[in-house]
Amino acid sequence: MKKEFKVTPYEVEGQVDYERLIKEFGVSEIDNRLLERIKKHTKELHPMLRRGVFFAHRDLNWLLDEYEKGNKFFLYTGRGPSGPIHLGHLGTWIFTKWLQDKFGVDLWFQFTDDEKFLFKESSFDEIQKWTYENMLDIIALGFNPKKTFFLVDTKHANLLYPQAIKFAKKITLSTVKAAFGFTDSNNIGQVFYTSMQAVPAIIPSVLNKKNIPCLIPLAIDQDPHFRVARDIYPKLGFYKPSIIHGIFVPPLSGISGKMDSSGNKNNNAILTTDSAKEVEAKINKYAFSGGQPTIEEHRKKGGNPDIDVSYQYLKILFEPDDKKLQEIYEDYKSGKMLTSELKSILIEKINAFLKEHQKKREQAKSQISKFLFKE
Ligand code: TYM
Repeated sequence: MKKEFKVTPYEVEGQVDYERLIKEFGVSEIDNRLLERIKKHTKELHPMLRRGVFFAHRDLNWLLDEYEKGNKFFLYTGRGPSGPIHLGHLGTWIFTKWLQDKFGVDLWFQFTDDEKFLFKESSFDEIQKWTYENMLDIIALGFNPKKTFFLVDTKHANLLYPQAIKFAKKITLSTVKAAFGFTDSNNIGQVFYTSMQAVPAIIPSVLNKKNIPCLIPLAIDQDPHFRVARDIYPKLGFYKPSIIHGIFVPPLSGISGKMDSSGNKNNNAILTTDSAKEVEAKINKYAFSGGQPTIEEHRKKGGNPDIDVSYQYLKILFEPDDKKLQEIYEDYKSGKMLTSELKSILIEKINAFLKEHQKKREQAKSQISKFLFKE
């Protein structure tokens, strides 16, 4: 029997079968040939590419054709500022920064304060607070301020809105109902929103009055917005954006759904503002373990790294060395490594990362104006 799961921008549930999702969403798998092609330009492959964390794409071969002809692309990604940043968000952006550095390209970063106001219970002021807080995390990752442009939907409305209505005019209510599962009780702002997310993919083309290819890194939950919008770009005279899709960083509770910090789910997420003690407590208490109930049994039967959340975090984010990761995999599987040992490796890695990140996050407070796009 097929296992049930759900992936939309507004809900990720169940254990996601990524191979099935490739078919259902109509995206393409990133195969070895494409990896080699990327490597020709980047000289090395990011661990997230080597390990299939970024696993699917739309039109990436076309984007590289254009790049090889001298038609450089820009990157576009975004954040819906409804709460604190967690490790799941960081994966997409760490990879985006790698792409920015390797290809030497611009990044346009959209903050969808309108979206989160329309979809969440939060007040407009709360969303503004999170917009500011989230910017600090993004700046702290080290994006190049000369090549990175922040757009805030309600602040850059004079630039975005005239383009958004061109998309909105070509998207019907029945299309968004089918794509997002909307019903008659969704508010009318929610119905319009996809047209705002479509726009940054053409902003550099609009400003430069010539078509520029665009690459969008995202986790696959955000793909439906672009599935709806992609057919419209050529109708408006623009290239369709290319997309590169990542898997989800799982929540602490197990490899089902995605890490999420909204509502009261903080026990399922490691936040960038967590203290070393909080990280230790969360991992020890909540990180789902693939180990056996007793040490004796674990030594005898071994653990299962494939369902172990701590191992998955090392694989997706925190152990760049393939050899070390393989050793951990084998030692855990054979029972040589205990769950407590695996967890302490992860805790140390996360805390070393967060110590630096939190320092840079403080420094980012004086940097925001350098990143905000000014016309
Ligand atoms: P948001 O704020 O929900 O998520 C921001 C980015 O993080 C990814 N993401 C994750 N990746 C891996 N594991 C997770 N557990 C996880 N949770 C979230 C999301 O896929 C996203 O890439 N509407 C968007 C904001 C947006 C956007 C964009 C995103 C506007 N334009 C263009 C991507 C590309 C949103 O609310 O994202």
